[in-house]
Amino acid sequence: MIGSLMMRVSVVVLLAGMLAGIAMGIRQDFTLQPAHAHLNLVGGVLLFLFGLYYRLFPAAAADRLAKLQGWLHIIGGILFPAGIAMVVLDGPAFIALPIVGSLMVVAATALFALIVFRTSRV
Ligand code: HEM
Repeated sequence: MIGSLMMRVSVVVLLAGMLAGIAMGIRQDFTLQPAHAHLNLVGGVLLFLFGLYYRLFPAAAADRLAKLQGWLHIIGGILFPAGIAMVVLDGPAFIALPIVGSLMVVAATALFALIVFRTSRV
């Protein structure tokens, strides 16, 4: 089920993001702070919340767009912060990565909005 997959991926991402935060603190080098922040918030918190919605509303998970939405968010939510890290560390040659990643996340969120409007009526 896509909701379970999203929650499982999100907790792994969150752990990785927290460990990266600890590493930043220990090294007192905050260069990767924007990657850390986006990984935790987009790939961790948002992914978990969206996955939870699918668990709470089975009609949403049954929507034919749900799988596409979940996979777009999983891939985009990792590619986006990874791309930010590449640009910060290795320069603008890698700018396509965060651009593609962020567009995937926006597309996934637009799909999610559509699914919520279709399925959240009381
Ligand atoms: C063990 C857990 C965590 C550690 C050790 C940690 C560590 C850090 C560190 C060292 C910074 C840089 C602070 C600075 O530049 O002064 C930072 C920034 C940030 N972290 Fe974390 N973090 C953790 C968890 C999280 C989580 C769970 C989230 C979001 C859900 C998060 C979101 C952010 C954001 C948004 C910033 C940027 C803050 C700003 O620009 O002022 N962090 N974190």
